[in-house]
Amino acid sequence: ARKILLDVDTGVDDALAIILASKSTDAQLLAITTVNGNVSLEKATVNTLKVLTLLHKEGDIPVIQGAHAPLRRPCFFEHSVHGNDGLGGALPHFEPTAQPADGYAPDYIIEQANRYPGELTLVMTGPLTNLALALEKCPDLPKLVAGVVYMGGAAFTHGNVTPVAEYNMYVDPEAARKVIHAGFAPLVQVGLDVTRKALLTRENIGSLVDSPIKQFIKTCTADYIKRYEARNTVAACALHDPLAVAYALKPELLHLEEMFVEVETNSQFCDGQTVCDRQQRLGKPANVNVATEIDSDAFLSYFLHSIQN
Ligand code: BDR
Ligand code: CA
Repeated sequence: ARKILLDVDTGVDDALAIILASKSTDAQLLAITTVNGNVSLEKATVNTLKVLTLLHKEGDIPVIQGAHAPLRRPCFFEHSVHGNDGLGGALPHFEPTAQPADGYAPDYIIEQANRYPGELTLVMTGPLTNLALALEKCPDLPKLVAGVVYMGGAAFTHGNVTPVAEYNMYVDPEAARKVIHAGFAPLVQVGLDVTRKALLTRENIGSLVDSPIKQFIKTCTADYIKRYEARNTVAACALHDPLAVAYALKPELLHLEEMFVEVETNSQFCDGQTVCDRQQRLGKPANVNVATEIDSDAFLSYFLHSIQN
């Protein structure tokens, strides 16, 4: 199984990514680090602990807190998408039975990379702040890890916060720039181009075997699905973050293209846009492996099968 460290801003789809990463037999989930994003750092941490408690994994998987805010910008929460609590109102009175572990996520990432040189895959499903801070302290980090997979960006399709920017990139584009130019290899972008094709329908949820996990998924995705349905007339939601985890465990699910990618940080309309040079117009060496196609059916079966282990 692949050694994974997951960095999250838990959020509805981050919660589903945690379920996938902790249940898949292809993963050895070493730890989860948390970051400000969809909700505050505190809420993201509590949500992560709640999900782990629900999975009975709270004793096995440490949760380490990271950045309270983006590098240079104010926080930008997504309460309208994920609910005020971040879990769509699921598990309101559920007390996690674990506390966050001591430590600070950027330092923890460096420690773990040194502990397992060349073995660790970092899967990032929130803004890239923690990883950028880790790089400031340890510029050699790219040499120590097996690779990085981030959910973020939109190479050829529209954004989901602004017309051109995807949420994780938009929240901390300065951090994203640091990460994409740091020399990680492979560095895989799982962006909206493919995650919009990773849909979980209300019917799929209905078909799960009854369990507390099923109930949780049903409740936490209810409003998230309604929102998608209002826009797209299909009762489903995009599994953005679970797809990044799934790729790390089963790379054949996505087709990648190497290209030079830049993140806009200084524009009136385009901050957070991932500018992906597919036709090598800039003549610069590729720095990112961008996911351009997905085997949607294979992904969905993998997701549904793994979470019911
Ligand atoms: C990303 O933004 C967040 O709202 C989701 O959790 C996901 O990581 C999708 O753009
Ligand atoms: Ca997320």
